[in-house]
Amino acid sequence: MQQLAKDIFRPTMHFTPPFGWMNDPNGLVYINNEYHLFYQYYPYANKWGPMHWGHAVSADLRNWQHLPPALVPDEKGMCFSGSAVVDWRNTSGLFDGETQPGALAFYTACIAYDDGRDSEQMQSLAYSKDGGFSWNKLTDNPILPNPGLKDFRDPKVIWHEQSQHWVMVVTEGQEIGFYRSKDLKQWEKTSNFGLSEGKHDEMPWECPDLFPIQLEGSDICYWVLIVGVQRCSYAGGSGTQYFIGQFDGERFTNHHDAETALWLDYGRDYYAAQTWSDMTDGRRTSIAWMSNWLYANDVPTQAWRSAMSVPRDLKLSRTQSGLRLLSSLPKPWLNERDNIISHEKTLHAGDCLVISQDYQAGILDGKLYLHRGSSISISPLGNRCLTYNIERNEKNIVITTSRKVGAEGEDSYNNMFSHDTSLTIPDSDCLQLTLIVDRCSSELLLQDGEYCFTELSFPMEVKSIDIYCSTGTGIVESLTFFK
Ligand code: FRU
Repeated sequence: MQQLAKDIFRPTMHFTPPFGWMNDPNGLVYINNEYHLFYQYYPYANKWGPMHWGHAVSADLRNWQHLPPALVPDEKGMCFSGSAVVDWRNTSGLFDGETQPGALAFYTACIAYDDGRDSEQMQSLAYSKDGGFSWNKLTDNPILPNPGLKDFRDPKVIWHEQSQHWVMVVTEGQEIGFYRSKDLKQWEKTSNFGLSEGKHDEMPWECPDLFPIQLEGSDICYWVLIVGVQRCSYAGGSGTQYFIGQFDGERFTNHHDAETALWLDYGRDYYAAQTWSDMTDGRRTSIAWMSNWLYANDVPTQAWRSAMSVPRDLKLSRTQSGLRLLSSLPKPWLNERDNIISHEKTLHAGDCLVISQDYQAGILDGKLYLHRGSSISISPLGNRCLTYNIERNEKNIVITTSRKVGAEGEDSYNNMFSHDTSLTIPDSDCLQLTLIVDRCSSELLLQDGEYCFTELSFPMEVKSIDIYCSTGTGIVESLTFFK
């Protein structure tokens, strides 16, 4: 209890485990009007350990109810990342005579050896007959044995309507393996993707996701493949890239140049993003682990470690830069606004707009106009430990995220935490922004969510969001702050 009380960093708007360690979101599935969130979980300490699947459920993606762990390690291994689906047509045959459709969870069983041998990773299945609340592992696991690969994990399974097959995408070292099956027992390898596409470092790709998405304002359908990289993300370390292309049930074709890397987020703390399966209203909603393997085990929280990002709705748009995924807050987050404060102000060099004092968490949403040659600096937690500097120069806009060793010395826990990262985006006099600030994090969704910047920060005290104009003129127009 004492430890919990001391835990000053626990967010109020973001999902955290009740106690212990958390990493990737797993098994995201929508069943009976509820969103299930499973996650990589070690309940007995605040560092990574033998993986369980933690479990929570929510009706609005905002208020979560904690449930007992859904999967726990056994003699067949730890339970690494994976996915879940509803088996509407009982193609698995596991739900004969059941009144409600069953749910299936696919996870990597990982057996670790302490004699220096590589761990063994294979794909396994668990099923639920009560709408996703309790789970049994299949006695015949694994459903997909290891084909001789060191890294063979994180199965994402989808039903591919056109070919009437289940499709599994899974990490195979630095590539993604594609498999298909009619009955979930016999899996046939169809292709690989990625060896010479997108970003790579010396470590395996992780946590793939694959889904169809309609181009906004058209009836053209594209496919998106999401892939995590561990050490070469845009801001350094772990990050989430994506590919846009086509998928015919067997093979994914990238529509961009092989070297083009598209990022779901340009910040340091947005990893292992996954999307909910079986949502019925056509939305594609994602969530990610808000940390980075460079320092995840060392951040200064106590009883718990790691939070999820806010959930984000994804849409596919054609922007000035080409086809891109845009992220936005789901409706319940934007529609249910409490304590709304509106701000309008013209800022000249040296002026500062303080958005709110005395808050722990809130959302800032609206527009800000920047004259050419002007720059502003947003400090989401009201201190200089984390700032987004936004400069409009002759040709474009440059956003520099700067996270420093703070006066409070919050960097001492890991020297990889500080960083300075810049991104140049197309010119515009208008900055449309949504900034989600919580006790130890900030998520800036800029230009309708085409550019997202998610960052952790652990100041001893949160002051306010402030917007400081360092050169020129910035005009704040209808910027609202709410909870
Ligand atoms: C990604 C990851 C996965 C793995 C899991 C283990 O963060 O390394 O590849 O399944 O975490 O916890």
